[in-house]
Amino acid sequence: MQLRSKDLLGIKELSAEEINLILDTAETMKHVLSASSKKTAHLQGKSVVTLFYENSTRTRLSFEMASKFMGASSANISSSGSSINKGESLIDTVRTIDVMATDILIMRHSQSGAPHMIAPLIKASVVNAGDGMNEHPTQALLDLFTMRQHKGSLQGLEVAIVGDLLHSRVARSNLWALEKMGAKVRMAAPSTMLPKDLDKTPALVCPTVQDAVRGADVVMGLRVQLERQQKALYPSIREYARFFAIDDKTLQLAKPDAILMHPGPCNHGVEMPTSVYDGSQSVINEQVTNGVAVRMAILYLLSARRNG
Ligand code: NCD
Repeated sequence: MQLRSKDLLGIKELSAEEINLILDTAETMKHVLSASSKKTAHLQGKSVVTLFYENSTRTRLSFEMASKFMGASSANISSSGSSINKGESLIDTVRTIDVMATDILIMRHSQSGAPHMIAPLIKASVVNAGDGMNEHPTQALLDLFTMRQHKGSLQGLEVAIVGDLLHSRVARSNLWALEKMGAKVRMAAPSTMLPKDLDKTPALVCPTVQDAVRGADVVMGLRVQLERQQKALYPSIREYARFFAIDDKTLQLAKPDAILMHPGPCNHGVEMPTSVYDGSQSVINEQVTNGVAVRMAILYLLSARRNG
């Protein structure tokens, strides 16, 4: 089985079979990460470029490590230090990268839909590494991979997603992915951080964090994205933490073997106290490791498709 598209633009475009293919391939890739020699030939002779118009630590580095572990030639370009700062357009920038024999272009952009716009214009495969508030498909895939490793199956899993839902591409991609895999999603956020169209999705919107977390198998916190807020959406960070933080007491409402997730970066003391972030139920560091395995799988599958 192969991926159907040359690009990975969003979870919306993937089938459940394709999601399973990526997760199964990532299982194999994870073994490479724990081997003493982290070198495979999966991407030998291939070229991978990351183009990031927004800040990133985990996503960018994990794509770069994934490319290197599999033997690709990789390069990074960001808006500062490139001709983007001279006003070059997105289309001219990606066409320039494309004609340098690039096989896979990984892009993060603040505009929703930017990767979808450029993908048909270039030969390289485009991977969406986050577009505005729309989607972050590779994050959702690594989240599903982490859930599957702990819970065995995603079917029927009860997942609580809490925090700044309005600005979160992570929440959107997780919602589409979990729905496709048969999991049930509950969400909670301050009313000012609730997207208007949430009632048109399969998510169950809960009035409080406690209601969302009660009985859950997975509890996922989201970062309060101050950089995307046009105006203050909460009187103060202290108030937010008081009503919406996932503290010890709230986490105890979930199933005793529930796992705690966060895509990072975390505002400690806001989304959750450090004791919970570092606590025994937290799989936040595992998510980061799994991010490398899942991105290795995605790069490999896209490259295999290009080879025909
Ligand atoms: C997320 C993102 O960029 O959307 N981070 C990530 O990729 N790990 C979430 C966030 O920034 O809050």
